[in-house]
Amino acid sequence: MYEAAGPVDLHDFAADYAVDFAADFANAVRTGLAQPQKVIPARFFYDETGSRLFEAITQLPEYYPTRTETAILSEHAGAIAAAVGPGRVVVEYGSGSSTKTPLLLKPLQPSAYVPVDISGEFLAQSAAALAVQFPGLPILPVIADFTRSFQLPDPVAALPRLGFFPGSTLGNLGPSAAIDLLRSFADVLGPGSWLVIGLDLAPGAGKSVAMLEAAYDDAAGVTAAFNFNLLHRINRELAGTVRTDDFAHRAIWNEGGGRIEMHLVARIDTQFRAAGQNFALAAGETIHTEDSHKWTLAESRLMACASGWSPQAQWTDERARFAVHLWRHEGGAIQP
Ligand code: AVJ
Repeated sequence: MYEAAGPVDLHDFAADYAVDFAADFANAVRTGLAQPQKVIPARFFYDETGSRLFEAITQLPEYYPTRTETAILSEHAGAIAAAVGPGRVVVEYGSGSSTKTPLLLKPLQPSAYVPVDISGEFLAQSAAALAVQFPGLPILPVIADFTRSFQLPDPVAALPRLGFFPGSTLGNLGPSAAIDLLRSFADVLGPGSWLVIGLDLAPGAGKSVAMLEAAYDDAAGVTAAFNFNLLHRINRELAGTVRTDDFAHRAIWNEGGGRIEMHLVARIDTQFRAAGQNFALAAGETIHTEDSHKWTLAESRLMACASGWSPQAQWTDERARFAVHLWRHEGGAIQP
């Protein structure tokens, strides 16, 4: 199904930008499991298995964000293209399977597409699939953790940019780290650039806390499997001895923090070795594996303004469950 086609050359860029992911995971586990509240950063979900499990999550009946955002983009991509104009390099952060990308690329008429993702295998497949749909479009994939600094490929250095950051991926970060990341996007994309960003909305009239929690604890157990993949990764990659049956999946709404939290809860006292060290959890103790922040429209606009972006437009579904925002980075321009 995914035969390489078109101008996709993953490995040239992989060589330049790949980091030592194995050492990164070992360090994160050693550091995170030594803290009073044990933690493993959410970016480690996305090895190849995790990336595929996440794709399965996006198809679940309980997981409303993907289909809601897709509907918003289908309806309003034309308006985005009209505001932005043709000839931009589209830089997509956390592109994954790039399923929403065609919705934007078709009306936009970009000059190149730069998908940035941490999962190299996945990136190669989706870039190849996209090349079939957009035969003349240069596609320049970058394997990188976009929360760290990385460089855009040389061939697009002189072209105007549009950042595309769908899926409410920003929600993994708290407000302060989110603002830092948005500012780094503004710096990398440069003055005059645009950002199309999808952000999941806080609970409200069309969205209960129960609905939010169900989206992160589905009946089929796919989100639980996604969470457990971290334990399997520890066993596979860090010579771990985790007894996965000792753990349970938990997803809860943290009202004060305005976020869904995912945890792996020890059902009984349990011990294991990983990355050359011993770890122990008492019954009820958790490993915090993800935050998924939900913001109101006003909070989202405030984060834009705090990070060098000026809000231009926003679109939501009729139940106000999800929002797509269009922001512009004016650079040094003087505002009225
Ligand atoms: C990819 C971070 C947007 O927070 O909804 C889905 C990840 N975690 N189900 C989200 C996720 C559990 C997702 N993001």
